[in-house]
Amino acid sequence: MIDHNTVQQILDTADIVDVVSDFVALKRRGTNWIGLCPFHNDRRPSFYVSRAKGICKCFACGEGGSAVNFIMKHEQLSYPEALRYLANKYHIEIQEKELTDEEKQAQSEREAMLMLNEWACAYFEKQLHETQAGQDIGLTYFKERGFSDATIKEFRLGYSSESYDGLYKAAVAQGFNPQLLFDVGLCIKDDRGGGRDRYRGRVIFPILNIAGKVIAFGGRTLKKDKNIAKYVNSPESVIYSKRDVIYGLYHAKREISKQDKCYIVEGYADVISMHQAGFKNVIASSGTALTEGHIHAIRRFTSNVTEMFDGDAAGIKAALRGVDMLLKEGLNIKVLPLPPEDDPDTFVRAHSHTEVEDYIKQNEADFISFKADVMLKDAQNDPIKRTAAITDVVKSIAIIPDEITRMVYAKECSSRFGIDEQTILRQIKHHRNKFIEQWHKERQQQQAREQRMSGEETPPPPIPETPDFTPPIPPATTAPGDERPLNASSDLTIQEREIIRLIVNYGMCYLKDTEYDDGTIRPTTVLEHISNELYLDHMQFSNPLYHSTFETALRYVEPYYRDQSTFNRALEEKMDNYVAAEMAKNDDESPEALDSDALINAQERKKKAIEAKASVMAKNELMEFSSDYLLKALCSIDDDDVRQLACDLAADNLPQLSKIHTQFAVIVEERDRLLHLVPERLYNWKNALLIQKINETKDQIAHATADQLPELMEYLQELYKVRRQLAAKIGDRVVNPK
Ligand code: CTP
Ligand code: MN
Repeated sequence: MIDHNTVQQILDTADIVDVVSDFVALKRRGTNWIGLCPFHNDRRPSFYVSRAKGICKCFACGEGGSAVNFIMKHEQLSYPEALRYLANKYHIEIQEKELTDEEKQAQSEREAMLMLNEWACAYFEKQLHETQAGQDIGLTYFKERGFSDATIKEFRLGYSSESYDGLYKAAVAQGFNPQLLFDVGLCIKDDRGGGRDRYRGRVIFPILNIAGKVIAFGGRTLKKDKNIAKYVNSPESVIYSKRDVIYGLYHAKREISKQDKCYIVEGYADVISMHQAGFKNVIASSGTALTEGHIHAIRRFTSNVTEMFDGDAAGIKAALRGVDMLLKEGLNIKVLPLPPEDDPDTFVRAHSHTEVEDYIKQNEADFISFKADVMLKDAQNDPIKRTAAITDVVKSIAIIPDEITRMVYAKECSSRFGIDEQTILRQIKHHRNKFIEQWHKERQQQQAREQRMSGEETPPPPIPETPDFTPPIPPATTAPGDERPLNASSDLTIQEREIIRLIVNYGMCYLKDTEYDDGTIRPTTVLEHISNELYLDHMQFSNPLYHSTFETALRYVEPYYRDQSTFNRALEEKMDNYVAAEMAKNDDESPEALDSDALINAQERKKKAIEAKASVMAKNELMEFSSDYLLKALCSIDDDDVRQLACDLAADNLPQLSKIHTQFAVIVEERDRLLHLVPERLYNWKNALLIQKINETKDQIAHATADQLPELMEYLQELYKVRRQLAAKIGDRVVNPK
């Protein structure tokens, strides 16, 4: 349970760009930020983040929302868990009340596992640094490998003692459920009713997810015995899927996105050594082949990948094998063969930073050319082998999704092998068609498997691959007087949604001065205006979610006015300071030549001009404040449905992002047209409502008995009249159907 003020503080502090940047590399575009969507397999940036509005949105798959929503979805957390995550990120202290047993029980399994792993990680660290065995065995080993204290701390390396169940006992004493220990794989259930520690006598490499949470461990033995597995790793669990996790991404992600490039190495030690040597954009596949999940994770940060490998024959073979997957996913692949006797770990330890940099510069090679060279050298002058080699390289090119890249490689290939370019292009096309067919089949099989596994449930529809960014479809609205064909109820929903959209985005914006019953004239906000109109016309939202969103919004009116007056006071002070500062600046035209009257006049004029400018600035700032007020509140509120709706509606309002638009056109902001827009949209809604009523009445008339008829006819006439009045008010013409 987090108290209200803390929640507010968290929401006020969380900056959406900052929050999203922890997971997605963002680039600035205009007033927004864009990046690859983390929620689907995105190839071109479809994910937009608006700092001003505090929301993000993928225009391809539709996912997004406020900072809280984003964290909820991305980290699969509940609302309070997401708040806690943000509080932690911004070092906001939360006064937690002690959890009851029931609440403990209710905490999601996932969260419990993460908590346990975090505890275990600290336990292993403590063992390493504070026990005799830890220091003598573990720490000595790390030091021998050249890891500094800072590095050991940064990667949270640890040690697990030889004790049979030291961790098991400590964890149970701490109150952790034994079953949980088995589920995350820290311990293995034994037949004596207890548990045996999995990583006994090993040094520990914790595996962090992209958010820095400990999701698994790798334990390396220090024994030379060939019969003992060198590494023991956590089993798969709710929080750990080997297929999707890359070692080191948490530590490397910022640097990867900064350099727009990453290095892939094989092992834990390689990552850590390179990191310590100042090459921080390094991650490891942990000795397995790269999966699509791995690539998906990498591609959020860069599409430029260099694979480092041992320069011996086995290393080269392994490198060639793994790469097709990367090519298929559209990454730009380079390779960096190391000297035969080295792996990245030994190599960076044996050379200075500049030496390594120079080596990279000289030896980094484009993958296709590298492959061509290796294959050709292998084939020597054997024509059959040569043909096979060429086919092999051509197949790799055919996997690349981007056509232009394929063409560039075709050219390269043609000159390297001395074969006509057209022939190569034809071959590429042939293989590409075969691949596409094969992938299609695989996908169908996969879908069938998933369907079988999930039993009756049908799988969610696949996310469409977007070849290009498509702008969102603007919400449908009817023009005034537009006689819509008669799906009246869906039309009604559209109109209601439009009103709710205006409320969410502009609810607290000043609309106009209104004369009230008591004779006072008061400034009225969009929300108040709509509320007044609905009251006068006895209208309600028919959609329950819109209704509750509207009711929720109304509850913010009072706090808004309170906060607004505080904001206004601060704003006035700010503007006074601004005017004073501007006045104090010396002008170029020297005033000495003027007599004192003229001087005073000139000063007055100058002051007027500055004050006018200040007032425009103040008006804009107030407008920002008003329009963001409700939006931010609703987009982060604890009601799941209202929050989701608000986020969706806010996203509808992200500026249309076509490049042409922003470059060449002056966009009249919707916010500046409210005076026209709000009455029009209200009219549309009322009109839709009337049409629905008219249709219903006509329907009743068709089935009415003779004595019901007069009353119904009269009612129908009444409806027509209201409709004419409505049209007159808005100032357009309605042709009354005969
Ligand atoms: N690996 C594993 N299980 C094994 C062997 C290897 O999970 N039985 C993974 C580890 O992630 C390891 C990587 O494959 O880091 C590379 O293996 P290797 O080169 O043998 O390990 P290094 O980490 O390089 O170990 P070291 O340098 O300490 O010998
Ligand atoms: Mn190694």
